[in-house]
Amino acid sequence: MRYDFDTVIDRNRTNSVKWEFMHLFAPDAPQGTLPLWVADMDFPCAEPIIAALHERVDKKIFGYSSPETGEYYRAVCSWYQHRFNWYVNSDDIVFSPGVVPALGYLLEILTEQGDGVIIQPPVYHPFSGKITACGRTIVNNPLLYRDGYYTMDFADLEKKARDPGNKVLLLCSPHNPVGRVWRREELQRLGRICLDNGLYIIADEIHYDLVRRGVAHTPLATLFPGEKHRIITATAPSKTFNLAGLQLSHIIIHDKELRSRWLCYVRDKISYGGPNPLSLAAVQAAYMYGEDWLEAVLAYLDDNVEFLRSYLRRHLPGVILPPPEGTYLAWLDFRAYNLPQDELFARMVRAGVLLENGIKYGREGEGFLRLNFACPRKILATALERMAGTLA
Ligand SMILES: Cc1ncc(COP(=O)(O)O)c(C=O)c1O
Repeated sequence: MRYDFDTVIDRNRTNSVKWEFMHLFAPDAPQGTLPLWVADMDFPCAEPIIAALHERVDKKIFGYSSPETGEYYRAVCSWYQHRFNWYVNSDDIVFSPGVVPALGYLLEILTEQGDGVIIQPPVYHPFSGKITACGRTIVNNPLLYRDGYYTMDFADLEKKARDPGNKVLLLCSPHNPVGRVWRREELQRLGRICLDNGLYIIADEIHYDLVRRGVAHTPLATLFPGEKHRIITATAPSKTFNLAGLQLSHIIIHDKELRSRWLCYVRDKISYGGPNPLSLAAVQAAYMYGEDWLEAVLAYLDDNVEFLRSYLRRHLPGVILPPPEGTYLAWLDFRAYNLPQDELFARMVRAGVLLENGIKYGREGEGFLRLNFACPRKILATALERMAGTLA
């Protein structure tokens, strides 16, 4: 089937945070600002998902709903199996409205006040937010950045994992914002260090489907079948199929006792009534019939990366683009321009392009901005022209 990702879809009057509410985050953004910030895509949703939503709406009643049907679990587990050769028992899946809230619940049930939680900055900023919100301690194991490429600092990780005060590693895989898709050997080494030192690993794999042509994502838990009870994996259809607003994610907890702690926590503290019926219909359809659409989106994203790379080479040669092996986020290194961080960010806003400020991801993000390229090429081209104009 042919898909049209070039047409710009008007997202006004859809309650879009990215478009309609950008002024709450960037009050100075002029009229007509292009929002390439928060991580959602400006592409029309897959037809089978839209059809499933229509069909469910036509059933007219939207009462309390449960995912406990064989069909739902078959759709989710077949996806893991088919895409990643990953066999997940449906009993091990629990639900959360989002991955970010799940990270908070998991820290509450896995750790005590003051315990250390290791993260690898620059990294998705809610990681540190969730750690401090529940009174745990952030322990940084910064990524190494050499020749425009990020790797893990295993020597430093080993030191931090050995500290008995540190209990959990929060892994971002694929990594937002630097775009790395960790190789098997890297994950094997990281996992070995953490597991040998008695740490739990929470693997946020929300971007698992969004990899470039020829790049493969490896779910961490598949590498440690005998020790997977200490690995919790957060997955979701929200990035893959652009369903973040439907708020349904799947958290895989292999350890039965831990799973019952999660269920008690969610029942007692959160009163989460379970997934809503529209989300269930959409997600089931996505995993059953959405693959063709996803492959088309991935090809379009690959081409957007090429477009971005070639534009930077020709018009903004001072900007370094660490290869976005995964995600639809480009982590742009503007340090050659020697601009104070606030000025760098504000200058783009004044030029009519809203990006994410690199400093949000840790002090390692100083001199960087994050650009979301999951948009029609026309929008990407205009944004880049504005950026080049303001830096000229
Ligand atoms: C690594 C990572 N985790 C979680 C999320 C958001 O998860 P959710 O919307 O399910 O809370 C994002 C969104 O960009 C992300 O990049």
